[in-house]
Amino acid sequence: MYKKIIVFEGIDGSGKTFHLNEVSKYLNKKKVRFVKFREPGGTINSEIIRNIILTNKSTFKKKTDLLLYLAARNENYENLIKPNINKKVILIDRFIDSTMAYQHYGFSINKNIINTLNNFVLGNLKPNFTFFHYVPIKYIKQNISGEKNKYDKFNKKFYKNVQDGFIKILKKKTNKLIIDSSKTKKYNVEIIKNKINKILNIHD
Ligand code: TYD
Repeated sequence: MYKKIIVFEGIDGSGKTFHLNEVSKYLNKKKVRFVKFREPGGTINSEIIRNIILTNKSTFKKKTDLLLYLAARNENYENLIKPNINKKVILIDRFIDSTMAYQHYGFSINKNIINTLNNFVLGNLKPNFTFFHYVPIKYIKQNISGEKNKYDKFNKKFYKNVQDGFIKILKKKTNKLIIDSSKTKKYNVEIIKNKINKILNIHD
């Protein structure tokens, strides 16, 4: 029951990283063994790739970015997912749905190519559960804070397309929960914690 891959998805500024960190604190408290990482990023090699993709100085084309996201994912698959898959809970900040939402619904790269590349790296591995952090349209963009990277600078229309893409992807999933990021953090922490208890069979 314990060994699940749980993914946190959403557009930039949706609060997914905050909630992933809250879940990891909770799992620590409950002494549940887990690994967590972000994409792009994760291993030392993947963090190097992250820096090349997201630097403001990057002039890479959209297909180059796609290949780099997948390159970083392969490092994570080999070094973080495979060794832990039946041993620990795996929490991931963005995963395959981000690639479809950004590279296909945002940048119009062919869907089949993205599916083929994900399959090439992951085989038929799929996350067991997805928390999707939804940003109501009027709040899109306003939440993005901190240091801006190359992907924090697109217009509202772009993020709306990406979010609509995420929603299309989610419609096909059964194991998901949509979190409304305009609700208070406290409220959402509680909802997510209750769901985590159910997914991982934890008793409060
Ligand atoms: P992230 O670190 O989650 O950004 P933030 O902290 O601003 O939410 O992700 C970095 C960017 O990478 C984000 O804008 C989305 C983009 N991305 C893709 O375009 N495709 C992908 O496959 C992944 C994993 C991320």
